[in-house]
Amino acid sequence: MIGAYEELKSDLQQTPRRWLVTGVAGFIGSNLLETLLELGQSVVGLDNFATGHQHNLAEVRTSVGEGNWKNFQFLEGDIRDLALCRRAVEGIEYVLHQAALGSVPRSIENPALSNAVNVDGFLNMLIAARDAKVTSFTYAASSSTYGDHEALPKVEDIIGNPLSPYAVTKYVNELYADVFARTYDMDCIGLRYFNVFGKRQDPDGAYAAVIPKWIGAMISAGEVRINGDGKTSRDFCYIENAVQANLLSAAAGAKAMNQVYNVACNAQTSLNELFATLKTELANRGCDYVRDPVFGDFRAGDVLHSRADIDKAGRLLGYQPSHNFSQGIKCVIPWYIGSLSNPVPQTTDVV
Ligand SMILES: NC(=O)c1ccc[n+]([C@@H]2O[C@H](COP(=O)([O-])OP(=O)(O)OC[C@H]3O[C@@H](n4cnc5c(N)ncnc54)[C@H](O)[C@@H]3O)[C@@H](O)[C@H]2O)c1
Repeated sequence: MIGAYEELKSDLQQTPRRWLVTGVAGFIGSNLLETLLELGQSVVGLDNFATGHQHNLAEVRTSVGEGNWKNFQFLEGDIRDLALCRRAVEGIEYVLHQAALGSVPRSIENPALSNAVNVDGFLNMLIAARDAKVTSFTYAASSSTYGDHEALPKVEDIIGNPLSPYAVTKYVNELYADVFARTYDMDCIGLRYFNVFGKRQDPDGAYAAVIPKWIGAMISAGEVRINGDGKTSRDFCYIENAVQANLLSAAAGAKAMNQVYNVACNAQTSLNELFATLKTELANRGCDYVRDPVFGDFRAGDVLHSRADIDKAGRLLGYQPSHNFSQGIKCVIPWYIGSLSNPVPQTTDVV
């Protein structure tokens, strides 16, 4: 039986649409861009390079080829600029809004900045999308919205209190999207990502996510630091699954609209298991990591355990993860080995 995603991709190839991807130079945004261009879609991208990189766009360009790249238009700028948001949505059918400042610790250090980008910027995008009468508005929500509610698996309508300023911003996004949907008759979908990983996720910087950070450290024989006792667990979600959820959401029917959905695999991997898996997969590719991890304190704002119930996304969107955690890790390791041993110059100017 052909799945909903395969059916949608074939429909998009036959009738290309016009998309806006915000945060297009970042990890998830650049992967969305790559898939959309490969499907022959026309894409506008918006980014201010706060955490995204020119070299991500350069890599997509090489991967999709010049024939598809010509369907991409890049706008450099900030979602805190409403006039720019309005320009970005002109003639757009599907918005995939990814631009935000991620990271719980970043938001604890500078809550005002996270709020300005993630809430004010989000509201700008909603207003611009409403006025441009886009077909649908899909946005990056977050599993951090489950906050201190301990029940597992996480089901969309049962949430706790937020544990960080970042979590507050992502929950406010959901509240605004819901109000805009009801007040202005918009079609919005929020995707609560659970620890997405894959190629082009940044291994550098104080706020890097655990998988790229550890792979980077292990490839360079650096230190792997585990916050807590290593039993903390996550529902790690390979990027292809997140891309699938975005495309299915954009084109979803009325019954699926104005909802939030978990995007993950309904599985749990502890940090100790993650370390062991990375060590094995790197060794399989000739990269032996011989050091032991260093255990540190638990990190403020982190939840201890996380696992997503993905029934709702399956039922209403036709979402079926194509990769589980270990399949995703097998796919991503060669990319990091290649890119960390041959880094693309930071200055590569592609747009
Ligand atoms: N990666 C995950 O596991 C995860 C989990 C939950 C939610 N999310 C959400 O998914 C989205 C994408 O995350 P990502 O992992 O790709 O992060 P990322 O940092 O790689 O991408 C975010 C992009 O947004 C851009 N950006 C930031 N501020 C901007 C602004 N003011 N104007 C324009 N562009 C701006 C950045 O330059 C970057 O390219 C974010 O909204 C994030 O909060 C990610």
